[in-house]
Amino acid sequence: METDDHDRLLVEGDNLAFMSALPAGIVDLIVTDPPFFTGRRRIISPRPAGADAAHSTPGFDDQWKTLADYLAFMRPRLEAIRRLLRPKGSLVIHLDWRVVHAVRLELDEVFGPDRFVNEIIWHYTGGGRARRYFSRKHDTLLWYARGDSWTFNIDAVRVPYKATSGFARGGITARSGKHYSPHPAGTPLDDVWDLPIINPLSPERCGYPTQKPELLLERIVLALSRPGDLVVDPFCGSGTSVVVAARHGRRWCACDCSPQAIAIARRRLERETGGRPLIGRRPARREGDRPQPAHPPA
Ligand SMILES: C[S@@+](CC[C@H](N)C(=O)[O-])C[C@H]1O[C@@H](n2cnc3c(N)ncnc32)[C@H](O)[C@@H]1O
Repeated sequence: METDDHDRLLVEGDNLAFMSALPAGIVDLIVTDPPFFTGRRRIISPRPAGADAAHSTPGFDDQWKTLADYLAFMRPRLEAIRRLLRPKGSLVIHLDWRVVHAVRLELDEVFGPDRFVNEIIWHYTGGGRARRYFSRKHDTLLWYARGDSWTFNIDAVRVPYKATSGFARGGITARSGKHYSPHPAGTPLDDVWDLPIINPLSPERCGYPTQKPELLLERIVLALSRPGDLVVDPFCGSGTSVVVAARHGRRWCACDCSPQAIAIARRRLERETGGRPLIGRRPARREGDRPQPAHPPA
């Protein structure tokens, strides 16, 4: 691949082959949301009119025999991610309670524990309520940096002060006499983010089963990359991360092994970029690679 090819590249196929085909050290931000080890087969909704569940188009398979199988799938991909990052580049990987602990240990080995930067908690409400335990209403995003310094712009993602904040009204004067004024753009984010899931009736909803809110990805892209940077998502699904990257003037490339995901991502990206043509590729499969992470259920 030529360097110019690394913008607007949407690839259908296995992401290990995709990442291996890219040169090392060219990516500023990898933001990705792999299968969560849910043990489920994720289905695209809505079904065509009149079709029953058996006729649904599968989204992707997240069934594994064992956790070891899942980690054996993830490990070479985490290594490939690290190889792609520039010295000041970062990885943000989105997981939940099922495997975040295990993937974090893998990342400590691949990146080094000292390269861990943040564990971002995305808290949401809505959906069902558990009766036998506290309802599980957060996902976890792990941020690792490639080197010992990284791109970070907290001012790009400030949020309004609370209406009750006295500091927001007049600032505060320290005992030393120094006065601290509120920032015109609001307060800096911490690592717990309260953001709604996508409303089922929202025009943002594209029907992909694990679609993430643009607002969540927007915070990551704006804070951890700069305009013109290259943002990559090797498990792009419906393309939320790269839609947001394109919107904010980043270069991007993305991969997914599901043809349905790629079709949806393509539509969203073309709409976002005013029909600007995308470069679509299917990487050659390497021996031993498999296009889907699926294992027959145990
Ligand atoms: C959790 S979804 C991503 C959803 C996405 N963040 C969105 O907003 O739509 C995970 C994706 O990983 C893809 N995937 C799983 N194994 C893959 C592989 N080996 N190579 C490429 N994509 C893969 C699945 O097809 C699925 O679309």
